[in-house]
Amino acid sequence: MKKIATILSAAAMSGMLLSTPAFSDDRELIEMPADVQVKFLSQMRGLVEALDEMLAALEEGNFDHVSRIADFQLGFKHGKWQKMLASGMSEDEVHAKINEMREKLATEKTDYSKKSKQSPGRYMPQNARTLGREMHLSASKISLIAQNAGETPGLDKYKEVLAGMQGITSSCVACHTSYKIR
Ligand code: HEC
Repeated sequence: MKKIATILSAAAMSGMLLSTPAFSDDRELIEMPADVQVKFLSQMRGLVEALDEMLAALEEGNFDHVSRIADFQLGFKHGKWQKMLASGMSEDEVHAKINEMREKLATEKTDYSKKSKQSPGRYMPQNARTLGREMHLSASKISLIAQNAGETPGLDKYKEVLAGMQGITSSCVACHTSYKIR
């Protein structure tokens, strides 16, 4: 006991205990205008909601809904699909469009310098954009698994969707570990 106390006090004196990893914050700062921050954080809260809805749909065994949530709320260009839905296009129409474009969406390069100044993506470093892409890619995989799961999906299909969801959450975690906006 005495020995541990000695080691601890020596560590405290040398400042080690004051800089334990739990309290340090070495995340890289991504700077963006205040109004874009508000938009970005709101989009982030939308992602948690999407995961929550996806788990609920999965628990109900509603794979069709799982695939729609993946594409409309977590997939590539999800903001664009939301706008189409809000403008009155049916879910079926929008989903058919995404399925047609799926490969292109996963491979096309985005020119971020052409993005609007309101777009958080414009301010992201390359590595953060890559993590965002990985997240969209996992969502796209989930959508395909769910669409091809058949009438009565077995345990293997549930496991495949869950693996895809973990692919998504690992992107969330990787980005949150590396970056902050304020
Ligand atoms: C490209 C990087 C990136 C990805 C991918 C990402 N986030 Fe974030 N998220 C951030 C950053 C940066 C912040 C701001 C953190 C800070 O400044 O402390 C944030 C903040 C948040 C917040 C806080 C919102 C608020 O109102 O304060 C939530 C919730 C969140 N993210 C959820 C998620 C979820 C869920 C996922 C995955 C589905 C995800 N994020 C994926 C970068 C990312």
